[in-house]
Amino acid sequence: MESHTSDLIELTTSHGGNVSQEARRLGCRVNQILDASASLAPFPLPRKLRLSLLKELFGHSLRDYPDRSYQDFRDAIGGWHEVDSSMVLPGNGASELFTWAARDAAYIGLTSLPSPGFGDYARALKCWDATFRFEKLPLSWSSHKPQPFPLRPSSDVLWITNPHNPTGQLWSRESIEKLLDNYKLVICDEAFLPLVPGGPRQSLVPLVEKRSNIVVIRSLTKLFALAGLRLGYALGDPERLRRWSQWRDPWPLNGLATNLGTLLMSDKRGLEQWMHRVQKWVDIEGSWLISKLKGLPGIQPYPSSANFFLIRGDFSLVSLRKQLADRRILLRDCRSFEHLGDHWLRIGLQNRAGNLRLLKAMKSLLR
Ligand SMILES: Cc1ncc(COP(=O)(O)O)c(C=O)c1O
Repeated sequence: MESHTSDLIELTTSHGGNVSQEARRLGCRVNQILDASASLAPFPLPRKLRLSLLKELFGHSLRDYPDRSYQDFRDAIGGWHEVDSSMVLPGNGASELFTWAARDAAYIGLTSLPSPGFGDYARALKCWDATFRFEKLPLSWSSHKPQPFPLRPSSDVLWITNPHNPTGQLWSRESIEKLLDNYKLVICDEAFLPLVPGGPRQSLVPLVEKRSNIVVIRSLTKLFALAGLRLGYALGDPERLRRWSQWRDPWPLNGLATNLGTLLMSDKRGLEQWMHRVQKWVDIEGSWLISKLKGLPGIQPYPSSANFFLIRGDFSLVSLRKQLADRRILLRDCRSFEHLGDHWLRIGLQNRAGNLRLLKAMKSLLR
């Protein structure tokens, strides 16, 4: 019993967004919590799409098995990225696809994980007893603009996150492109890239047709605030993706999710407008909140291209995080990130009302 509980706690503290667990602890409703530990766009899905989801509930999406080839969804994704649908594999969130990317990585050889980094890659690699090592990123940067990827690890596989989580650094495509010949496989997680102002210009997607050693992994979780639906996709070499699809469960994505995903990805104009709206929010709210936090004693916010950023305290921030949680405001504890520690917290940007609530609470606690 004891060990099950601690395993569960480890599972929940190595990710943000443990809002139901915190609501239980605080004895409140989930919607009374401001969850700045996960980093999702703050806008509800357009009404038209919510209605389509409702319609699906009364249609065949629940009764029938999903199309195992996910052809419509793959066509929609391929159409948006202008690649053939054989180069697209939808996944049950990006996280499911990391598991299969890690299977390839384990077979190929040594993987480098830039660190501090998103913990799920190590989870996926451990599934296959893969050999990997953390490569420390320099923990100082002064710009939210595209910057050269700073590492030259000597390994067979390189795992890159663009923009990087948890630092929010945006790596320039040019700098990554120069590295590609050195690796048998480069896995590039672009889960947050569509939210970053100017971010899509740094994407590796235009290279996937030319190079079979790249896989780009995307997610709809952050852009559309759809963490519960589990929608992601990989873009890469058709042979590699065919192999992955043969390894996994027969129906990894459910019918409701894929039908909504198809609607989202086939509406080009809608997608462009949505990305514009989200990127504008990141630009305006991000610089506003960071400028306000700069005025608080004992903490320094770090520049970020994305809808989250790090703050570093002159002292341990464990108790600040705890006091905020008691006020129903969740920030991401960074102790589970390799090479970060108790002086760091990650903040997911909110809408103005949420950011004001956070700021007011931090002001009163950091006096
Ligand atoms: C960098 C990064 N990639 C991927 C994911 C997971 O995406 P999904 O919800 O599609 O599994 C996360 C979630 O926090 C993330 O931070």
